[in-house]
Amino acid sequence: MDATDAVRTTGARTLGRAGGIEVSALGFGCWAIGGEWQDGEGNPLGWGAVDDDESVAAVRRALDLGVTFFDTADTYGAGHSERVLGRALAGRRDEVVLATKWGNRFDAATRTLTGSDADPGYVRRALTGSLTRLGTDRVDLYQLHLSDAPLDVAAELRDVCEELVAEGLIRVYAWSTDDPERAAVFAEGPHCAAVQHACNVLEDAPAMLALCEERGLASINRSPLAMGLLTGKHGSGSRGAAGDIRAMPPSWLRWFGAGGVPEPQWLERVDAVRDILTSGGRTLAQGALGWLWARSARTVPIPGFRTVAQAEENAGALEHGPLRPEQMDEIDRLLSRPQD
Ligand SMILES: NC(=O)c1ccc[n+]([C@@H]2O[C@H](COP(=O)([O-])OP(=O)(O)OC[C@H]3O[C@@H](n4cnc5c(N)ncnc54)[C@H](OP(=O)(O)O)[C@@H]3O)[C@@H](O)[C@H]2O)c1
Repeated sequence: MDATDAVRTTGARTLGRAGGIEVSALGFGCWAIGGEWQDGEGNPLGWGAVDDDESVAAVRRALDLGVTFFDTADTYGAGHSERVLGRALAGRRDEVVLATKWGNRFDAATRTLTGSDADPGYVRRALTGSLTRLGTDRVDLYQLHLSDAPLDVAAELRDVCEELVAEGLIRVYAWSTDDPERAAVFAEGPHCAAVQHACNVLEDAPAMLALCEERGLASINRSPLAMGLLTGKHGSGSRGAAGDIRAMPPSWLRWFGAGGVPEPQWLERVDAVRDILTSGGRTLAQGALGWLWARSARTVPIPGFRTVAQAEENAGALEHGPLRPEQMDEIDRLLSRPQD
């Protein structure tokens, strides 16, 4: 792993090439604050019930603590996350960089995901809905939410995004995908500024980080806390709550098994690196964020949250900053990953 280019500060990071949009090194992910929603079979897609007043207070607390980047999607809570975020940011819109996503269809009345839509003609409709719910006239970072869309379709969608940039409806765009080949297709667009992909201390993404370096893209890291596993509150006896996607995990969700029981092999790895992550007075979550900042100067982790306390703890990671290079090497050794 190459941590030599890591920035020894948690000052601003940039979406895209030099001169791009500045964001705080930490963003906040707004999936959980969308509350409960489901797929067509009734399986939970949210993180259980939420208290909207608490969510609003958490967003405002994050702002006060220096967080300027918020990531949501039209589908989170079938539009509810965007509404709550819009409410929280009322009067403070110009202080933040707002990211949302399109590509899935939903029924807001029943809070149900109804399918996906990769049609170029759908992008504008989806964007109009997001602008209304967010209470704004532009989206700063617009992201394709269909991680495995075909390359030729993606090229068309990228061109639609360029049109939306020209019209001032979005500022830059990205693809939320774990596939570097797909991300490279979007990167051909002059206003593609980032890729959103899974990355955390348990799940490195060297090929995607190399692409971000080569193409000058920000690496926006979803699931930076392994969906809560890297906060230390889930032990072998933990169970998921009703309405929480972690209690009925779909096949792609690797951290938790049936009933929301944390997968033992991942718990073992958390234990292996716990002492390093919690060094220097960090909490485990803060150490996990510090790993991402040390991993590359382009990373912007976007931990999810549902309370003011979580917002404070996660924003507190900014003060601790990145892990040191020797700590990064030691983590690779403990997790049996190749080292430089
Ligand atoms: N396809 C996509 O584009 C995609 C997919 C996944 C995620 N994302 C984005 O990435 C964001 C983050 O990823 P994620 O939501 O998968 O997971 P994550 O950030 O790895 O974990 C977030 C969850 O951990 C718990 N948590 C957070 N801070 C905590 C703290 N300090 N102490 C204790 N618990 C804490 C909260 O859940 P509990 O309190 O319920 O435990 C929170 O919802 C999402 O919100 C979303 O914006 C995008």
